[in-house]
Amino acid sequence: MKHKLLFARAYEKEAAELIPDEARPLFHLTPYTGWMNDPNGFSFYGGKFHLFYQYYPYETVWNDMHWGHAVSKDLLHWTYLPAAMAPDKPYDDFGCFSGSAIETPDGKHLLLYTGVRKEGGEGKKEIQTQCVAIGDGLDYKKYVHNPVLNEHVLPEGCDYHNFRDPKIWKTETGYRCVIGTCDENTLGKILLFKSQDGIHWEFENILIENDGRLGLMWECPDFFPLDGKDVLLVSPQDMLPERFEYHNGNGTACIIGHFDEKEKRFIPESDHAVDYGIDFYAPTTMLAPDGRRIMIGWMQNWDTTKLSSLREFKWFGQMTLPRELSIRNGRLYQKPIREIEKLRKNPVTHKDILVDGVVRLPGVQGRTVDMEITLRPVPNAPLYHKFAARFMENEQFYTKLSYRTHESVLRIDRKFSGSRRAYIHQRRCEVPFKNGEIKLRIILDRFSAEVFINDGEQTMTCTVFTDVSASDISFNTDGKVLMDVTKYDLLMEE
Ligand code: FRU
Repeated sequence: MKHKLLFARAYEKEAAELIPDEARPLFHLTPYTGWMNDPNGFSFYGGKFHLFYQYYPYETVWNDMHWGHAVSKDLLHWTYLPAAMAPDKPYDDFGCFSGSAIETPDGKHLLLYTGVRKEGGEGKKEIQTQCVAIGDGLDYKKYVHNPVLNEHVLPEGCDYHNFRDPKIWKTETGYRCVIGTCDENTLGKILLFKSQDGIHWEFENILIENDGRLGLMWECPDFFPLDGKDVLLVSPQDMLPERFEYHNGNGTACIIGHFDEKEKRFIPESDHAVDYGIDFYAPTTMLAPDGRRIMIGWMQNWDTTKLSSLREFKWFGQMTLPRELSIRNGRLYQKPIREIEKLRKNPVTHKDILVDGVVRLPGVQGRTVDMEITLRPVPNAPLYHKFAARFMENEQFYTKLSYRTHESVLRIDRKFSGSRRAYIHQRRCEVPFKNGEIKLRIILDRFSAEVFINDGEQTMTCTVFTDVSASDISFNTDGKVLMDVTKYDLLMEE
């Protein structure tokens, strides 16, 4: 069955040549060709960052999951490597689902992933098990005794049709991993396992279970210490909104608390959404050699993936910008990786601009842009009601970020960005009211906008489909506000 991988490798190379560079984002990773979902195996190995991804090379739709593979020195310039895995074994022939990677003490790259099979053929339920593949950063060999964790290891009341997305990390004596599963009511649980060699695993405990507040099944768990706390990231399916906090559908939650090593339980203290925009899911993190905890997510929303077949591009799915994480005041802060500062060129700064109505500023436009906006109320004047920045704009189209001071709500709106479908175009986020002061950093990359609010206290992310020639930026207000803007073009050097 090995030919499945060789076939994919030959196909993707040819197909990718037909995708011109301009038809991709500049520095956000897209699939080599075809379809991409979750980031997988985000790790540092052999002097490079490796990022794998859920991949179907042959069409821009979800289908037989392969693992695509790319490497980078700076997390911005990516080089495609041949697909790492194809669903070519009896235990994973329905798909090589999400997982993670780590370097072993003998210098190998170990992938721990979910192998999915269907007993009794099509139409039957999936059986999800955990599997290992070991490689050298280019070629990976599936372990002969896979799966390494099968359906029989699950504790009572856990569903082996939903047992997926192992996230591995090193401990003093070996490895641990967390894996998502659910109970008979599809309520998520996160399981903790340990291993000495990354191959023989032992169940430790149920780390935490979903009490029904955060969606149903919890996908793609990640668990790590950060700034004196322990953090669990999960991507729940089927969420209900909670005021402005979580939104309907698949979402991502950051649960902050502490890990009780004796009881092997995670004690949550607080939780909040990881991203308040439209397109963000299944994030995963890695610990960079310099100690930074870096997160990357799938810049997409499952409920709008049908759009993939309407697009003229031969790729679908993008990763977010890698983001540096920290905990401040009980919240997860996200900053664009600092490497992006090297791409900033042609700075344009306008200070103390009084915005009252519509304003366009010389030098402030572009489609691959890093722009910082600071707003302050005008002293001794009534507080402005609304501020809006329009970007990716032309006579017909724009994407808009607007802030209403009386609600302290920020809204991202891509209604006028060329979509002809009735899917989600807007999302709102409540930001702490600071007397009308707000800081926004907006990163545009051809087909996406990522907004970092108040130094990364909150983020809003969405994909945008407007023709790339729409590159104007304008500002408008209801009321008067003082604005500082610094804008850079983001340019790649080869
Ligand atoms: C999340 C997810 C994972 C699964 C993968 C399959 O987006 O559903 O739980 O491993 O996608 O492609």
